[in-house]
Amino acid sequence: MKKILIINGPNLNLLGVREKSIYGDQDFVSYFESLKIKYPDVELEYFQSNVEGFIIDKIHAVGFDIDGIVLNAGAYTHTSVAIGDAIAAVKSSVIEVHISNVYAREEFRHKSYLAKNCKGVLCGFGLDGYRLAIEALI
Ligand code: DQA
Repeated sequence: MKKILIINGPNLNLLGVREKSIYGDQDFVSYFESLKIKYPDVELEYFQSNVEGFIIDKIHAVGFDIDGIVLNAGAYTHTSVAIGDAIAAVKSSVIEVHISNVYAREEFRHKSYLAKNCKGVLCGFGLDGYRLAIEALI
């Protein structure tokens, strides 16, 4: 059975509440439940943190054991050399996901410190991006 961890970074605990016109009105926990039903043959886990170091700790903790990580690092994508290095350090494939099309938004969102160490990047498909990333990993 494939093991995949979804990691959401800062402010993504507020999905369904925050900036609905950009991120939609569904909360992530209910979306995650629908993913678990859709992929009964995948061991899916979910982790969210607003703290950069906790995201790095989690990547280290699972990144030598599991098949893949689906990572939406939120705004840390555009700032964090350290999360980029953590991705490079581990063995698991990491797919970078963004709900919104970051290239259609402010210029500071066009830079990712993570992308070059990821297997691929998905953005602009809403929450469906997480499912597409799972498809890519399995
Ligand atoms: C985001 C895009 C980031 O620029 C932003 O800071 C987020 C969410 C997305 O999923 O579209 O928090 O990663």
